[in-house]
Amino acid sequence: MVDSSGHTEKMANLFDKLSDSYDEVGVDFFQPIAASLLKSMPPTQGERWLDIGCGRGAVLLPVAQSIGQHGLAVGIDIASGMVEHARRLALQAGLRNVEYEVDDAQSPATVKGPFDTISSSLVLFFLADPLAALRNWRPLLKPGGRIGITTFGANDPRWAEVDEVFKPHLPPEMKDARTSGKGGPFASDEGVEKLLLDSGFTEVRTESTTIKVRFADAQQWYDFTWSVGQRMMWLAIPEHSRAEVRMDAESRLVRYAEADGSITFTQGIRKTFGIRPVYQ
Ligand SMILES: C[S@@+](CC[C@H](N)C(=O)[O-])C[C@H]1O[C@@H](n2cnc3c(N)ncnc32)[C@H](O)[C@@H]1O
Repeated sequence: MVDSSGHTEKMANLFDKLSDSYDEVGVDFFQPIAASLLKSMPPTQGERWLDIGCGRGAVLLPVAQSIGQHGLAVGIDIASGMVEHARRLALQAGLRNVEYEVDDAQSPATVKGPFDTISSSLVLFFLADPLAALRNWRPLLKPGGRIGITTFGANDPRWAEVDEVFKPHLPPEMKDARTSGKGGPFASDEGVEKLLLDSGFTEVRTESTTIKVRFADAQQWYDFTWSVGQRMMWLAIPEHSRAEVRMDAESRLVRYAEADGSITFTQGIRKTFGIRPVYQ
């Protein structure tokens, strides 16, 4: 078993700090990914749904809208700032069928199953031991219940070229945060499918999609990088070197700018699904 407490605390701090700007800088990113997941796994009236690593509710809130007043949508996240924003947004939307807990996805302690569905969008690769986490999630589903997760698929080579500027400054384990390394489980469809199979899910399958990510200008790209997990890369760079790294990134970004100054990259999204077998 991995001792993940230090890692989990780091993630909680990171996402707490960025929770006010997360999904607030005007770049469509988390909503289209959540919408794509839900298109493949439509919520039904009356479901009990658990969203793990719910953030500000990109998946959780549309689920709550869809399952109706007799359904229940539960969101857990390690960052209390994220949970507070999800709670506020749900209140603003008049949703009463949502519950939240600050809890560790590695080993959720506060939620009681069984749930009909578990979702987790762009979370698993942040965990110290994704396989152990999935093994802990499975008993929270009812037999025959479904799970759907998103991770990152193919990266736009132009975007990768911009992200290259961070690499000389990063510790080895941070170099490929989106996939946990080219040999890691998040580098391929098969790798993620194997995680689900090895944790006892069945009927495991992958769907892929690509979203377009538009930055109005280099400033918006910069703001975006501080508002998402990539913030940890900036923090790994000594403060006195950040301006230089930013200039390097922006000189690469302008090569891909449209006439109006905007830059549009693509991002592959992998959606992996499974079922808790009825006999387990
Ligand atoms: C990229 S965000 C995705 C949030 C949300 N699912 C969405 O699609 O917008 C990753 C989320 O995972 C959460 N997270 C990271 N490590 C976690 C852990 N150990 N337990 C629970 N949540 C965690 C973060 O706080 C953050 O809200």
